[in-house]
Amino acid sequence: MAKEILLGNGQKIPQIGLGTSRIPRDILEDTICLAIKKGYRHFDTAFAYYNEVEIGNALKTKFADGSVKREDVFITSKLDNQYQAEEDVCPACTESLRRLQLDYIDLFLIHWPLSRQNPGYFSTKPVATDYLERDLKTTWRAMEELVFAGKAKSIGLSNFNSQQIEYICDGARIKPVINQVELNVRFPQYQLQRFCEERNIFLTAYAPMGAPGHPQSLPRYTEDKVALLKDPVILKLATKYGKNPGQILLKSLVDRNIIAIPMSTNPDRLTSNLQVYDFELSVEDIRLISSLEDETRHFWQQKNEDHPDYPFGIHF
Ligand SMILES: NC(=O)c1ccc[n+]([C@@H]2O[C@H](COP(=O)([O-])OP(=O)(O)OC[C@H]3O[C@@H](n4cnc5c(N)ncnc54)[C@H](OP(=O)(O)O)[C@@H]3O)[C@@H](O)[C@H]2O)c1
Repeated sequence: MAKEILLGNGQKIPQIGLGTSRIPRDILEDTICLAIKKGYRHFDTAFAYYNEVEIGNALKTKFADGSVKREDVFITSKLDNQYQAEEDVCPACTESLRRLQLDYIDLFLIHWPLSRQNPGYFSTKPVATDYLERDLKTTWRAMEELVFAGKAKSIGLSNFNSQQIEYICDGARIKPVINQVELNVRFPQYQLQRFCEERNIFLTAYAPMGAPGHPQSLPRYTEDKVALLKDPVILKLATKYGKNPGQILLKSLVDRNIIAIPMSTNPDRLTSNLQVYDFELSVEDIRLISSLEDETRHFWQQKNEDHPDYPFGIHF
């Protein structure tokens, strides 16, 4: 089982959770059930992944057969960019809860600091591509109401940079407990982590393995760089410690008190990704891993180039 982290509001979260965004729909329920059997108690989803129904079905099965109780699992979901208007936040959370077949969500995040037009509630119409100006403090006020109403135990942010976090925290009745961002040894986000720690906000690392196979990762890897999991330094350390490369990547994050949500559908890797607490990296090897930092990031890189002034251009 993963170690638990105590969040700023007293809630506990398993440090390693299962990312679910790219798990194929036809194997999702089985993968969640298997992950629970293997000891996972933290699952990351989002309205935008369109997989909350399958995750809800798997949870229902495992609650019914007595494998786990509701209070034993930590479920994160996220407010989609199109439902950030103050009046849309509660209906969007209620819809996620309906799909997940849950009474409350453990953690609800604002998925991106970007707003889009609501196409009509939960419609299948294509999402508008233009971004709207929106004061995210109004969104945050509605997020706080979710906690007061008992729909969310904790609330937080995702993909927010330091200025955006500062803006949300200023005058907030409830402070965010987590900021979920792209983070791995090549894009370690040290500055953002320091900034968040000073405010008692934990970072959750998405793409901790460098998101191999993600469409936005491919061009960069094929041009000039090997995938993070095949980096010679990581391969050498994996051999040295008798672990697989993913375990080395995760270990370097958990040692920094970072929460991580690797995705895997492979039974062996599901197991091994939880087994990162039974070895210690030496100081020299931690230094070696930190030398891999090169600010490579995969998510929304193209958007940054298209919109150089856009606020999520940098994470700090
Ligand atoms: N907040 C956001 O905006 C945001 C954005 C992106 C993602 N996320 C969340 O973060 C989660 C993780 O990100 P991600 O799925 O993009 O990338 P990732 O976790 O870095 O990479 C997943 C890939 O790594 C492979 N893998 C996992 N463990 C491994 C190991 N020990 N050794 C070798 N390969 C391994 C998996 O293949 P196998 O299945 O074959 O093991 C899978 O193809 C997502 O599922 C989602 O929940 C959030």
